[in-house]
Amino acid sequence: MAYQPAENRYDNMIYRRVGNSGLKLPAISLGLWHNFGDDKPLETQRAIIHRAFDRGVTHFDLANNYGPPAGSAETNFGRILREDLKSHRDELIISSKAGWDMWPGPYGFGGSRKYLVSSLDQSLKRLGVDYVDVFYHHRPDPETPLEETMYALRDIVASGKALYVGISSYGSELTAEAAEFMAEEGCPLLIHQPSYSIVNRWVEEPGDDGESLLQTAANNGLGVIAFSPLAQGLLTDKYLDGVPEGSRASQGKSLSEGMLSVENIDMVRKLNDIAQERGQSLAQMALAWVLREQGEYGVDTVTSALIGASSVAQLDNSLDALNNLEFTNAEIDAIDEISHDAGINLWAKATESKTREN
Ligand SMILES: NC(=O)c1ccc[n+]([C@@H]2O[C@H](COP(=O)([O-])OP(=O)(O)OC[C@H]3O[C@@H](n4cnc5c(N)ncnc54)[C@H](OP(=O)(O)O)[C@@H]3O)[C@@H](O)[C@H]2O)c1
Repeated sequence: MAYQPAENRYDNMIYRRVGNSGLKLPAISLGLWHNFGDDKPLETQRAIIHRAFDRGVTHFDLANNYGPPAGSAETNFGRILREDLKSHRDELIISSKAGWDMWPGPYGFGGSRKYLVSSLDQSLKRLGVDYVDVFYHHRPDPETPLEETMYALRDIVASGKALYVGISSYGSELTAEAAEFMAEEGCPLLIHQPSYSIVNRWVEEPGDDGESLLQTAANNGLGVIAFSPLAQGLLTDKYLDGVPEGSRASQGKSLSEGMLSVENIDMVRKLNDIAQERGQSLAQMALAWVLREQGEYGVDTVTSALIGASSVAQLDNSLDALNNLEFTNAEIDAIDEISHDAGINLWAKATESKTREN
């Protein structure tokens, strides 16, 4: 039977405007970093994507290297798109990226025009689309002049192969500089994609210029889509009683067992108690926290929380976070008191690798 999306799919999702642009994103978006490679059954992938779309998740985030093997998440998503969602292409925001290692030799990594343009062409083929909605430079590259990377992004938009462009894991100062270049070119950066969660708050800390990344993004009209808001699963109840079989931590992938230290699990247990008092799962509270109203920039400080999911049940649980995004001051204070940096920011070195000075 051909897939028929739910008719009420737009009834319960919250859509937030991305920075100063005219584009809106769902408050929760789905990323395909893990769980959508050739190591996972295609039918599970299909069920998760159908359910996401049925619940108003219009944004699916990919990158050239998502898999394993690298590229297979785009191929698998492209197949599901072709088979089930083709007539809904204009209802979808599909993103991809290049910047991390993709193919051997000097042109499969970094921020050169050569790499970005050829990688996007490969991504379009794997996805089976003429354009992506958002194309990102995936990480700063200290060996490529910022101008070269930004002008490549500008020309990609001019070529029609991406409608908007963004950056990921750039620090505050470099973000400001990149945003200025692109504004002058009449091709403003749409969005920044940083890691951000209760236990990884680097985006709130002032950089050398005294501004946090969240402030810099807002001041330059960029939206923010926060990746790994569940700290790869640490901010859920799944590791409270050990490491379940099949979980990310059990697979020797990006969530090492070292991140599940006694201190971290003890913190997670206390956070779980607060979530329960709020009538939420810990995953739901962690997502609501990322999306919470933040002083100066209000509810739009973070446009969207970019989650992963290995099952429909997880996705459903996470999407129900939208039922309660409000926090009392006492809850915020209690979360601050309990939480510490969990040492899970795997992208910190990339962020630090380029500042205005060097
Ligand atoms: N720009 C970048 O450099 C960058 C880097 C990383 C990620 N990202 C993007 O961000 C997306 C999300 O990253 P992420 O997967 O690390 O995000 P995450 O949402 O922090 O973690 C997802 C994992 O948490 C567990 N989980 C999810 N919902 C749950 C629930 N309700 N209850 C219990 N466990 C739950 C699952 O673990 P199990 O798989 O163990 O079941 C799932 O795979 C990626 O797919 C990618 O699009 C971007």
